[in-house]
Amino acid sequence: MSQDPAVSSRTDWWQTGVVYQIYPRSFADANGDGIGDLAGIAEHLDHLGGGDDALPVDAIWLSPIYPSPDFDFGYDVADYVGIDPRYGTLADFDRLVEAAHRRGLRVILDLVLNHTSHRHPWFEASRAGRDNPYADWYIWRDSPGRSRLGARRTPNNWRSYFGGSAWQWDEGRGQFYMHTFLPEQPDLNWRSPAVRAAVMDVVRTWLDRGVDGFRLDVFNTFYKDAALRSNPRRIGRRGRWSWQRHLFDRDQPDLPDALARIRNLVDSQPGRMTVGELFDNSMAKAAAYIEPKHLIFDWTFMSLRWSAAAFRDAIVARDAAFGPDRWPANVLSNHDQPRHASRFGGGLPVETVDARAKVAAALLLTLRGTPFLYYGEELGQRNLVIPNAESLDPPARRATWLSPWWNRDQARGPIAWSANRGGGFTRGTPWLPLSADFETRNVEGQAAHPGSVLSWYRRLLRLRREVPALQGGDQRLLEVGQLDVLAYVREAPAGKTDAMGASLVALNFGDAPATIQVPAAPSGVAWRPSLSTHLRPEAEAIRGSVTLAPLEALVAVGG
Ligand code: NOJ
Ligand code: CA
Repeated sequence: MSQDPAVSSRTDWWQTGVVYQIYPRSFADANGDGIGDLAGIAEHLDHLGGGDDALPVDAIWLSPIYPSPDFDFGYDVADYVGIDPRYGTLADFDRLVEAAHRRGLRVILDLVLNHTSHRHPWFEASRAGRDNPYADWYIWRDSPGRSRLGARRTPNNWRSYFGGSAWQWDEGRGQFYMHTFLPEQPDLNWRSPAVRAAVMDVVRTWLDRGVDGFRLDVFNTFYKDAALRSNPRRIGRRGRWSWQRHLFDRDQPDLPDALARIRNLVDSQPGRMTVGELFDNSMAKAAAYIEPKHLIFDWTFMSLRWSAAAFRDAIVARDAAFGPDRWPANVLSNHDQPRHASRFGGGLPVETVDARAKVAAALLLTLRGTPFLYYGEELGQRNLVIPNAESLDPPARRATWLSPWWNRDQARGPIAWSANRGGGFTRGTPWLPLSADFETRNVEGQAAHPGSVLSWYRRLLRLRREVPALQGGDQRLLEVGQLDVLAYVREAPAGKTDAMGASLVALNFGDAPATIQVPAAPSGVAWRPSLSTHLRPEAEAIRGSVTLAPLEALVAVGG
């Protein structure tokens, strides 16, 4: 390992590059059964990397593609080293990895190691009896007795994040098992050395198959308190999950060691990475789990409203929590949250929502850290409108007033490739409907329009490739004297004089023009606009100040 991780690590692909999340069910359906598949992804790699029409990004992360009974759409894994037949075969997977690598795209898999499906052979064996080799692979406990009303008491007060108790009674074993999510997703017992060894085998298997990294699903729940102590109560908001302090059902002292073992194994092969999905909204926790060579999502930007000041405050807070050496992973949308075009622009005219989506894209793709894009956001894709009652998403179907849940189907709709029937996504009936506006909001249509959201993403991504400061540079927030404008400079790390150049980014979140003061470009010459959402005078030189149009995003260089 390098002696100076803060600087050397900024040249690793997973820090300088951009990751694109694919939700495989909704990306491209090659065989017409209405469900996206690996062959479909392979057919559409040109959208992502390699050619002139590519976005381009540096890696794809596939949400789970393993065999699964789909109680949580793939996040309930029944075989960690196989491919669900609906997505294809291992041979299809190898072909996809090969085709991706040929285009310079890395492949990241989603590893769901906190729990398995209840249909996983490990769980089927575990529930079959108390004296087989798998008996302690899950978290089993006796009931401590019955309540006065005769109900079986649970081992402690832990809740499932998806509603109800975290404990499910199993008649066969005459015991409870623990599940942080659905009862169909029993939690593995990470205190068993056999479980830890099996997990390491899974990681090794995929590394040997050529994958470049892993997203670690809810990694900070792997370990639970050894004595299974009840969580202390607290005054919460709506939803019983928030009525406890989650002291004992996650973030246990044994976790860092287990995490280090996984990371060491991943690091044993050059160029591999992990990104941890933090199961919590805490910046401080995200900072604590980051290692110089790895990433952790922190969800700061997911919960912000459309406000330059809110983003500014969040960036300041995160810089303080992360310090100069921890590299952030930036994300605005994923398969669990409402799409950000809808979040930032819900109810506004189409043009305004698209304009905000472009400003958001400029932010995501120029801010210090690794950007994670969510398929469809490059079109400005909105949420689907699907009432909870018609939802396929299990927690939404289980939702009650005490366990509210939003409908994740809304963010999981198919991407449209063309205006054709089925949106070029499928010849059959899509598993979730296409967006109502797919005839105009699709890849082919937007590619033909220089003013589209897609064209803007392409220009941003290409510029990012050309300007090293936008990839690995430090970031200095500017005091610009305008509440609606977020502006910063990206440049070589302090004390370094490499050939990174410098970039000025100015984002007007507001609906009125705004004039801002800007610092001198490090070159001593003026800043030159490289990209703007608006027309700017040719050969414009920016010195001292610049006036931004309403909802203008401007990226200039000057180093
Ligand atoms: C986090 C995943 O992002 C989410 O989609 C899933 O439901 C839970 N983990 C449970 O696996
Ligand atoms: Ca299919």
